[in-house]
Amino acid sequence: MVVTTAQLLKWKQQQRPITVLTAWDYAFAQILDEVGLDILLVGDSLAMTALGHETTLPLSLEAMLHHAAAVKRGAKRALVVCDLPFLTYQESEQQAIQTAGRVLKETGVQAVKLEGGNRAIAQTVTTLTRIGIPVMGHIGLTPQSVHRLGYRQQGKTPEEAERIYQEAMNLEEAGVFAIVLEHIPNELAAKITSTLSVPTIGIGAGKQCDGQVLVTSDLLGLTPKQPPFAKAYINLREMITEAAENYIDDVKHQHFPS
Ligand code: KIV
Repeated sequence: MVVTTAQLLKWKQQQRPITVLTAWDYAFAQILDEVGLDILLVGDSLAMTALGHETTLPLSLEAMLHHAAAVKRGAKRALVVCDLPFLTYQESEQQAIQTAGRVLKETGVQAVKLEGGNRAIAQTVTTLTRIGIPVMGHIGLTPQSVHRLGYRQQGKTPEEAERIYQEAMNLEEAGVFAIVLEHIPNELAAKITSTLSVPTIGIGAGKQCDGQVLVTSDLLGLTPKQPPFAKAYINLREMITEAAENYIDDVKHQHFPS
């Protein structure tokens, strides 16, 4: 079965949790797809995890197209969603159409994700969905606004919580097929999840979301500094270090090739 946006909606109704991980290349996409992840997100966090930038802001559309196409080649079952990089959709609706159109046409992914939920972003979502481009929203901690928000938990004051709740409503009304809720209080995520008919995908937002997403480098223990809500299921950094050290040793002592 190939995962579709309609299937995600059914899973929400059936209370079947939705599983999402990020991917940035063919090899990881192939493994994660075969394991059975529902969504592979070509997140702009790849600017940091794969390209070594300090934030997601420097990522270009060209670089994103390159990574998204590689991920799509590795995914047979999962729905592949690609982040629109910073300043490739906020200038105007025309710019958003051009960018999202290029992403779908040139990479083959099935959907795009963009950050924010104010009226202007909601209007952009309406325009994209009207022309047939599925859009995933992303509210709470939005890393493209790091210089304004930092990496702190959002929605702690009643005013902030109300704003985020309203953004979720705006996005649903605008036609998103799902919304990422990042680093907000569990109770707020639970309230949004029970009000919306589209699925919520949480990251640092508690277990009552309809699905969960993690950055794959955090899951694998590749990132030296992890966010507080991440969980490393393996320490791949240590394992790679050990393998490379053994190789150096073998070559230096002429044990390899044997
Ligand atoms: O870019 C990314 O990896 C993301 C996830 C944190 C949801 O947007």
